Amino acid sequence: MEDKKKLTRQTGAPVPDNQNSQTAGPRGPLLMQDYWFLEKMANFDREVIPERRMHAKGSGAFGTFTVTHDISQYTKANIFNEIGKQTEMFARFSTVAGERGAADAERDIRGFALKFYTDEGIWDLVGNNTPVFFFRDPMKFPDLNHAVKRDPKTNMRNANNNWDFWTLLPEALHQVTIVMSDRGLPNGYRHMHGFGSHTYSFINKDNTRHWVKFHFRTQQGIANLTDEEAAKLVGMDRESSQRDLFDNIEKGNFPKWTMFVQIMTEEEAKTYRFHPFDLTKVWSKADFPLIEVGKFELNKNAENYFADVEQAAFNPTNIVPGIGFSPDKMLQGRLFSYGDAQRYRLGVNHYQIPVNKPRCPYHAYHRDGQMRVDGNYGGTKHYEPNSYGEWQEQPSAKEPPLELSGDAYAHNFRDEDEDYFTQPGDLFRIIKADGKADVLFKNTAANVGGAEKFVQIRHIRNCYKADPEYGEGVADALGLSMDEVNGFDMSPYDQWAPRKSE
Ligand code: HEM
Repeated sequence: MEDKKKLTRQTGAPVPDNQNSQTAGPRGPLLMQDYWFLEKMANFDREVIPERRMHAKGSGAFGTFTVTHDISQYTKANIFNEIGKQTEMFARFSTVAGERGAADAERDIRGFALKFYTDEGIWDLVGNNTPVFFFRDPMKFPDLNHAVKRDPKTNMRNANNNWDFWTLLPEALHQVTIVMSDRGLPNGYRHMHGFGSHTYSFINKDNTRHWVKFHFRTQQGIANLTDEEAAKLVGMDRESSQRDLFDNIEKGNFPKWTMFVQIMTEEEAKTYRFHPFDLTKVWSKADFPLIEVGKFELNKNAENYFADVEQAAFNPTNIVPGIGFSPDKMLQGRLFSYGDAQRYRLGVNHYQIPVNKPRCPYHAYHRDGQMRVDGNYGGTKHYEPNSYGEWQEQPSAKEPPLELSGDAYAHNFRDEDEDYFTQPGDLFRIIKADGKADVLFKNTAANVGGAEKFVQIRHIRNCYKADPEYGEGVADALGLSMDEVNGFDMSPYDQWAPRKSE
């Protein structure tokens, strides 16, 4: 046997016996001196780390991003500075509500998280397979997760909690319509588009800012499962998306996506017909056409799932010069949450884990902390300013100022805009034209059908406001007449609904 296959302790010392624990006599109890038993068991006891609060079940792979079109007029980001330029990357796809052991083929949105190892630092674009989200204020995010995950008493998913919450936030209808449509259950991660969803900013070399949305279109084509197909699949294979992605990459059939951006000037944003930073709405492609940028392919599976996929830490704060944030308050809320979660889930030094480590030179100031394994910068000075030129800030990376004004206040966005229905209505009409309206009605009824009647009726009324046919179709699928829907007294239930300020 080769030497490297011989079993040692963590210390490198040989392990003499891995079959029999040490006992006092052949029938006697264990001895404390069996250090190998203690080390083996203690490590096993600590194998599990906290799972991600959402997006716990996922699949990842390494890949390559290639620039195919010149967008340097919009951004100075080094990753885009030359046609043909390639940048190494890592992607992780996920379901959202299920835990780490959940089945893949569940009706849910899918995470679409990309990590680019650029020459100027790590850029993470932590998106979904949908261009919008359930609401527009991050204050509601913990509530969403409580509502869609398990009930505190039964420890089961609870359609009533889920739909009570969604229907009380009519701005959720756009995202709910996507999730209940045929696209709400992708047949594997290779067959879905990806979106940065939020508005981000691009800064060019003249320091001009543009607002930008990112789109990734699958080159494998869209493919979805019906609920019936998914139920059958889950019965046979709980890891269908992981298997599909992993096996195709192993076979050399590398999945690919094309990257596009939509660009809006700062001036256009001031007068656009709706709030351009509202995450429940899309920017019309007629107003802001897709501009092709590049493509990425995933071409290498992780050698070890835990090392790379489970320990991957994507964080919307990870940007590079030329790419910035926007005033979207959802995005702003996320800027706190991810690093905070990862410092808890993986520890303060998670940037040293190889999948998270920059591949460009870096000189990061932070010191010490649990699991510091990179030498901790040895004797390098650990304060700034100092007289030795250590830790020089880089003002060239400063963004241009962003004009902001207004009173500090818990502003109620419902005072400004209550149009949660135009875009879901537009989407419904596209679904209908595509011949998929019945699928939407059926999926919706199957899901909201588990909630109390008043919740069902509230949802039908929301759908009706988007398009009367949408509301009528869902009512019909639930076996309710529109007379019953319209005549129902909702006042006892709606009295606590979020609404405009008095
Ligand atoms: C994962 C928070 C909205 C996409 C996570 C995690 C947190 C979080 C704490 C776990 C991070 C970890 O442990 O590594 C939030 C908050 C949100 C929000 C507070 C809103 C205020 C969104 C939106 C998107 C999104 C709008 C997509 C556009 C993802 C993805 C992951 C994730 C893809 C999994 C990343 C991975 O694969 O490791 N989110 N999230 N989230 N979130 Fe969000």
